[in-house]
Amino acid sequence: MAAQLFQGKGHAAVYQKYRFAPGKELQQIILSYVQEKGTSPTELVVDVGCGSGQGTLFLAEHFKKVVGTDISEAQIQEGREAPSPPNLSYLVCPAEELPFEDGSVDLLTSFTAAHWFDIEKFMKEVDRVVKPRGCVALSTYTVDMRLHYGNCSEKLTQIFRETRDVIFKYSHSRVKHVLEDYKEIFEALPFKDKKRLTEIFDKIPMTVAGVVGYLESVSPYQAYMKDDPEAAKTLLQETEKRFLEVMGVSSPETQLEFWVRHVCVLGCKGP
Ligand SMILES: C[S@@+](CC[C@H](N)C(=O)[O-])C[C@H]1O[C@@H](n2cnc3c(N)ncnc32)[C@H](O)[C@@H]1O
Repeated sequence: MAAQLFQGKGHAAVYQKYRFAPGKELQQIILSYVQEKGTSPTELVVDVGCGSGQGTLFLAEHFKKVVGTDISEAQIQEGREAPSPPNLSYLVCPAEELPFEDGSVDLLTSFTAAHWFDIEKFMKEVDRVVKPRGCVALSTYTVDMRLHYGNCSEKLTQIFRETRDVIFKYSHSRVKHVLEDYKEIFEALPFKDKKRLTEIFDKIPMTVAGVVGYLESVSPYQAYMKDDPEAAKTLLQETEKRFLEVMGVSSPETQLEFWVRHVCVLGCKGP
């Protein structure tokens, strides 16, 4: 089962440490969409496949009640242990069986998770739980990241891509949804009023260690670790060394910029 990829306690901890929240532009696109569609007052927001709450947290700044749901106990435990506001809570449950009443959810989000779900069953649940005029935002970041630092950005991006390509040989077949910019997920959303944005960019300040940590947190890396732990560890050690050499620095805490592209499927349920 695809969800098992994220269930290990060790993976959840790496995830909590190195995965980043949706950037300001993506946040703003979602907030403006909800406003434009007149989904107010927005009482209940549900973030499905919330992991340890990377995207759930910002929602709690804007909406009355936010519930993060995930199939992984370990991920939810990480979320519960992190500081969070009183209007945010977490639940362990599958995306395909959401414990919410029919027509009770004003906004349903999912960040970098929808491709792991049984799409057909999940979309039925979306249609069941979302209120008339309620909204949906399903986003993912893509894998064509770029690294920026001084005049060696091209070289750094090339090293990143070489390492990513080795790791992604261990990808689950569902990653195809990400590679095709959520086209199939967009088509499966059972709302007439919908759109798919594929050019949302985010420039994230990160350290070299953070970029290496991100690579460690991706699910294919966890599969690589199971298959050949020595080779997997060496790959990341070598990658960090190559980054530092190209940058001409010695500290893995050196800051650079990680440029990420997001795709977002937005939809509003008819009256
Ligand atoms: C790549 S992580 C994304 C986590 C978080 N939303 C983020 O933005 O980083 C995917 C999450 O989906 C969860 N997941 C996978 N299959 C699921 C399912 N069928 N139902 C609920 N959650 C699921 C995993 O446990 C994992 O936490």
